[in-house]
Amino acid sequence: MTVRMILRMGDPRLQRVARPVEKGSSSLLESLLEDMFDTMAAADGVGLAAPQIGIDLRVVVFGFDQNERYPEALAVPRTVLINPEIEITDSTEEDGWEGCLSVPGMRGLVSRPIGIRYRGLDEAGQVIDRSASGFHARVVLHECDHLDGVLYPQRIADLRDFGFEDALGAAEPSDELD
Ligand code: NI
Repeated sequence: MTVRMILRMGDPRLQRVARPVEKGSSSLLESLLEDMFDTMAAADGVGLAAPQIGIDLRVVVFGFDQNERYPEALAVPRTVLINPEIEITDSTEEDGWEGCLSVPGMRGLVSRPIGIRYRGLDEAGQVIDRSASGFHARVVLHECDHLDGVLYPQRIADLRDFGFEDALGAAEPSDELD
């Protein structure tokens, strides 16, 4: 078990467009995925993208049954997603409070489309092809943004809706992501 250090906003490694995973890198990938799940669990997160631990690859993990920090969120299946592609299937936007392990202690209100289809490969090289909505879609969109060097504060429409978690008394406590 290796809990890796999570990079914080401002680190240029979080701003890169990550490289696709190429075939034949399975042993490397196996230890990367182990570290990502260990790191995510240690931080009590619901998702993590490889760039957040300094790995320049298009890999995200997410999922939880129940999470103490997001008591109202519905379960999201434990998922490894390699080289993901996202298609917006319902472009209606919904606001939600997000947090990020790379932006500790803060929350911001982010508008995102409510329906997506996502595709990619799992850890065994099997195709994942799913539709998602609500919190599940938000988690996937947030994590995949990391692969394009985008952190959620860049998506906040009004910076008055961005602040320290303990100062945002009115903010919903249930919508933090990774
Ligand atoms: Ni994040």
